[in-house]
Amino acid sequence: MAPSMTDKIDIAFGSLGQGGQGDLVVFVGDDLALGGPARDALGGSGADLVAKAAASEKFKGRSLSALMLPAPAGVSADRLVVVGIGSEADRGKLDWPALGGFTAAKVSGRTARIVFDLPGVATGPEQAAAFALGARLRNYTFDRYKTKKKPDAEDKAGTSLTILVADQAAATREAETARGLADSVILARDLVNEPPNVLFPEEFAKRASELSKLGVEIEVLDLTRLREIGMGALLAVAQGSVREPRVVIMRWNGGTSGEAPVAFIGKGVVFDSGGVSIKPGAGMEDMKGDMGGAAAVVGAMHALASRKARCNVIGAIGLVENMPDGGAYRPSDILTSLSGQTIEVINTDAEGRLVLADVITHIVRTAKPKAMIDLATLTGAIIVALGQDIAGMFSNDDTLAQNIHAAGEATGEAVWRMPLIPAYDKAIDSKFADMKNTGGRHGGAATAASFIKRYVEDTPWAHLDIAGVAMSSTSNEINKSWGAGWGVRLLDRLIRDHYEAR
Ligand code: BES
Ligand code: MN
Ligand code: ZN
Repeated sequence: MAPSMTDKIDIAFGSLGQGGQGDLVVFVGDDLALGGPARDALGGSGADLVAKAAASEKFKGRSLSALMLPAPAGVSADRLVVVGIGSEADRGKLDWPALGGFTAAKVSGRTARIVFDLPGVATGPEQAAAFALGARLRNYTFDRYKTKKKPDAEDKAGTSLTILVADQAAATREAETARGLADSVILARDLVNEPPNVLFPEEFAKRASELSKLGVEIEVLDLTRLREIGMGALLAVAQGSVREPRVVIMRWNGGTSGEAPVAFIGKGVVFDSGGVSIKPGAGMEDMKGDMGGAAAVVGAMHALASRKARCNVIGAIGLVENMPDGGAYRPSDILTSLSGQTIEVINTDAEGRLVLADVITHIVRTAKPKAMIDLATLTGAIIVALGQDIAGMFSNDDTLAQNIHAAGEATGEAVWRMPLIPAYDKAIDSKFADMKNTGGRHGGAATAASFIKRYVEDTPWAHLDIAGVAMSSTSNEINKSWGAGWGVRLLDRLIRDHYEAR
């Protein structure tokens, strides 16, 4: 679907010293000293002007602060925007997307040249691309359903940035990849933000199928097929809704043919009412985001295909709606999962693990992945434990866990590893079946992870509980959206750093 008007941002690269119109952006540290290219752009009196204005405006060059001035006479620009990058210590651990996001917001709806030369910091194409990525992500708004745009929406539309760099060609090339990644995060955000009356399983499957345009192989399992295969756990969740479930399998074959893939599995509950164990009304509207895992998987597959990653990756998403109609599954039902293991239903609101179990069994048995990562907005308990800025990770493989942790650090999509001990597994033993679908009040995120663990067989696996980070997101320099598109950058980075032939 086309981006809305306010999403429009043009980013191009130019060379340092290039003239032009609109605003001029320069960067300074806490010593307020201009770099060579910024001095050149501002002419002789530039440094003086910045020093004077900084003193009168109490601008200290702190990281992510800005000083706005009318451009000095003789400089072909409307405004001069001085962006602070802080102390030497700050500059040593600069967050490029955040700086890009911050800067883009300062010149939102305007034309600007950005002198991408940061005093005391090495910059190259990679940094310029990360900066551009942040600018794109910051600019995103989901206003598809607003028939009356806010008065400032028109002003916001059509931001046009020219980033002036030493090597224009290299930056342009590198930023092409960053653009693909930004589009992928935005795709995931759109999916999370969409309401469930629009984005029901069939429609979700249709949107995921559009990845075929990028060369992703798509297989959609419909209701008949899911019954044939025997996904008894997933089907039980779906049976209380008039919307049919779907499972979508996306294959990106960018690696050696025959090489075992990495698998991404996503929970795609398009709406989670809780089912018969219905949720309280307050806040139930947030449960349109219960497909954040599936959105991340679709976004990640989009990212890998956009940059033609040299790796085989398989993405699989289980799409259902959890509703309480007369045909709905109920507490005390005993389900037979695809794996053959039986499950006693204690609470129909613990539905995500049922969906994941069957999708995981299908992928483990048909694709034999060398590593598998599932992403799911699985438990409220993980939000209680870790809050909204870090995802919980459970894993049966230390190397995989370390790699994911590192990718989280590198992208700012942080994860924290949680324990998996036999006691959690014991908590889901059932009186009547092989297991039950909840483990009682304590350790809810961990017993949920232990449930999934019973389906991964001997696959190196990590489970990311993203209930706290996928939706209702804390706003930051690169995200103002309710749906964060969390995990797209993390998964892309994980593949890039650990699974691609160089
Ligand atoms: N989708 C919810 C988890 C959730 C809660 C995600 C809040 C995002 C925000 C999940 O299906 C659920 O309902 N989990 C229950 C499990 C319980 C019934 C064992 C929960 O966390 O309360
Ligand atoms: Mn639920
Ligand atoms: Zn759920």
